[in-house]
Amino acid sequence: MLSQLVYVSNRQVTCPEAEIEKILASCRKKNASLDITGVLLYSPTRFIQYLEGDAKEILRLYDRIKTDPRHRQVRLVSYGSIQNRAFPSWQMATKEISQIELTFRTNVSSPDRQTFKRLLSGQEQSGSQVQLLLKKFFTS
Ligand SMILES: Cc1cc2nc3c(=O)[nH]c(=O)nc-3n(C[C@H](O)[C@H](O)[C@H](O)COP(=O)(O)O)c2cc1C
Repeated sequence: MLSQLVYVSNRQVTCPEAEIEKILASCRKKNASLDITGVLLYSPTRFIQYLEGDAKEILRLYDRIKTDPRHRQVRLVSYGSIQNRAFPSWQMATKEISQIELTFRTNVSSPDRQTFKRLLSGQEQSGSQVQLLLKKFFTS
């Protein structure tokens, strides 16, 4: 079943920029073979990752990611089935959270801002709302 999963976590000091490159290399290699697509957002202290693909595969990947020492306090924000992929052509799209905050200044509505705030703080969210919001960040 096609599903999505979103979590937030705390990026560790043991995860400098070069490690992010390594994470993205893993994503390119493994996610392609598992037919998993998604988005990785990061700041100096946070990660937000959105994964979409076969339910079993994303849960298995999530279990592995959770144990990665480059982040801690991994909190599940949303998980459920979806009709379509939001990012069908991205093994793992990526953006710095500071760039998103710049987008907020120009063309993000107040409800979207609230959704993003809740997301960052690790509160549970509706998958479709998160999907829509992330799509906006990558098309604006
Ligand atoms: C924030 C974060 C996101 C990650 N996302 C993925 C991912 O989408 N796909 C993936 O294969 N590995 C991802 N990783 C890396 C995995 O935790 C793991 O290191 C990688 O899959 C290599 O696993 P292996 O050593 O068992 O081959 C992520 C790690 C972190 C810290």
